[in-house]
Amino acid sequence: MHSWLFSERELHVRLLQGEDIDILWQWLNDPQVLSWYGGRDQTFSRNDIAAKYLPRRGDPITACLALQEHQALGYLQFYRLPTNTCALWKIPDDGTSWGIDLFIGRTNLWGQGLGTRLVTATCRYLLLTHQARVVTVDPMVDNKRAIRSYEKSGFQIATRLERHQNHEGAWRDSWLMTWRPHPSDINSH
Ligand SMILES: CC(C)(COP(=O)(O)OP(=O)(O)OC[C@H]1O[C@@H](n2cnc3c(N)ncnc32)[C@H](O)[C@@H]1OP(=O)(O)O)[C@@H](O)C(=O)NCCC(=O)NCCS
Repeated sequence: MHSWLFSERELHVRLLQGEDIDILWQWLNDPQVLSWYGGRDQTFSRNDIAAKYLPRRGDPITACLALQEHQALGYLQFYRLPTNTCALWKIPDDGTSWGIDLFIGRTNLWGQGLGTRLVTATCRYLLLTHQARVVTVDPMVDNKRAIRSYEKSGFQIATRLERHQNHEGAWRDSWLMTWRPHPSDINSH
């Protein structure tokens, strides 16, 4: 029996576990996923995946599996932003600024609104459980699907991060996107 960190109707999120390594390994060897998350020049063994992701249990990163009903849907991680990143991005460095990264591994389900719902629920969880006042995400500027999905979740483009990540051998620009709770959501909790 798994305990969910949070749910939104049939979508559930829980901590990543050893039993999830196989599906994570499959997703992280899928060129469709890698073309937007990690890069197709990456190859990972099951052991690489386990060594990289299983220790992410809250300090500093929390690695999670997202499920639809009881079927694995994707990977999600969240983390409190470190001081140097807050300074660079000009956001509060008081423990209330968080970052997220994710992908839906079941690529046939892209574009059906699941990412929007998952990210919306994640922001709400970070607000309610971790007192988040800013949540950030940093899609590459050509990742139009992700950008549109985050906008639908309430994120706004804040600034362009030049040469932010090396993806498939080239330095790529990203958008820093930020979500902030509505004041009435803060006051009611
Ligand atoms: C990014 C991701 C999580 C979004 O989840 P999703 O369920 O596919 O997204 P949604 O269906 O909620 O929203 C996608 C939106 O982008 C739109 N879209 C898709 N392709 C687009 C394109 N090329 N240009 C503009 N908009 C596009 C869709 O039409 C939809 O908007 P709409 O509802 O207004 O029509 C998912 O696509 C994914 O895992 N992608 C691969 C990995 C990745 O990019 N991770 C994010 C790294 S920051």
